[in-house]
Amino acid sequence: MSLTGKKNQSISQSALSVRFHDKQSKSYEIFIGYDILELIAKMIANSEIASSYVIISDDNVWPLYGKQLLEGLQCLSINSNVIIFPAGETSKKLQSVIEISDKLCDFGIDRHSCLIALGGGVVGDLTGFIASVYMRGIPYIQVPTSLLAQVDSSVGGKTAIDLPQGKNLLGSFWQPSSVFIDMKCLETLPSCEYQNGLAEVIKYGIIKSEAFFQKLEDGVDKLRFQNREYLEEIILTSCRIKKDIVEIDEKETSRRRILNLGHTLGHALESTSGYTISHGNAIAIGMIAITRISEKLFSLSQKDRNRIENIISSLGLATKIPEDYSTDEILSALQKDKKKAGKKINFVLLKKIGSPFVSDDVPTDLLRYTIEEMKK
Ligand code: GLY
Repeated sequence: MSLTGKKNQSISQSALSVRFHDKQSKSYEIFIGYDILELIAKMIANSEIASSYVIISDDNVWPLYGKQLLEGLQCLSINSNVIIFPAGETSKKLQSVIEISDKLCDFGIDRHSCLIALGGGVVGDLTGFIASVYMRGIPYIQVPTSLLAQVDSSVGGKTAIDLPQGKNLLGSFWQPSSVFIDMKCLETLPSCEYQNGLAEVIKYGIIKSEAFFQKLEDGVDKLRFQNREYLEEIILTSCRIKKDIVEIDEKETSRRRILNLGHTLGHALESTSGYTISHGNAIAIGMIAITRISEKLFSLSQKDRNRIENIISSLGLATKIPEDYSTDEILSALQKDKKKAGKKINFVLLKKIGSPFVSDDVPTDLLRYTIEEMKK
């Protein structure tokens, strides 16, 4: 079923429902469409989640899409305010939480209000975190505008800010009330941001489904040129894979850990680079390292390893570790991984495409060897 508004606007009526097995967590819908910001405003107005709303966005996204969403809400006489902060990971800090919360207090925001995160992963993570602690928790809605946020960070309720000691070290699990994905927003996304999202899409193929992986291999050109119909299917499947995982393991006690494929080494590379390497390139390298380790330790076939390396390079993502990164620094950054258990680092490894498992049994020598090999 499809709701239609002005010409060309259409939105899938609940593309997906996220329903938690633990009934204490609230369920929500994920909607996907093209050029739907005004329709989103209507749906928010009809949902009666709250009596007032605050759109939180950054100074990159706001000038592109903010006005349309705000005017959509105001046209329907919905009480709405706006808070805009500087774009970038450096805004994901405690000071931003304090400044934004101050503004929420000034606006008289209470538990009958709802935040709307309009932007990419930083906006979603920061807004979600504030929503989870402001007045002990208020609702929020995700309107992700980057591919990475659409396929990954807007779904599943992980919220966080960074500390000087590391990324995402203060956070909570706080599920959104709804997720609205407007694919038109991808048209203004810088290509390196688009690639960040593609790396997560490849991850879903590797961890969950050989058939989806094959679909990505067959559609490399469509992905490169952002074929709208194909991309909608890819976003929908990615969200479905993530939803199926988080529904059974909301708080990442077991199965959800497979979503971290390539991320353990990826985060270590990001921190070693002083966050100059993009997240997508870092996890692309991380995924290749994992497939090489899996081939050596757990009989992943050479064919699967080649397929993974090929798709990563066909989509223009990094396949090598920059030579000037110190191996010792990468290994010591790995020791700070927040998913570590005692001294053991958990890695998501692979038996074959579609069959991941978690192991803390990767010898440091092999890690060192793989990092060195990937610099050549
Ligand atoms: N991005 C990984 C997760 O949501 O669990």
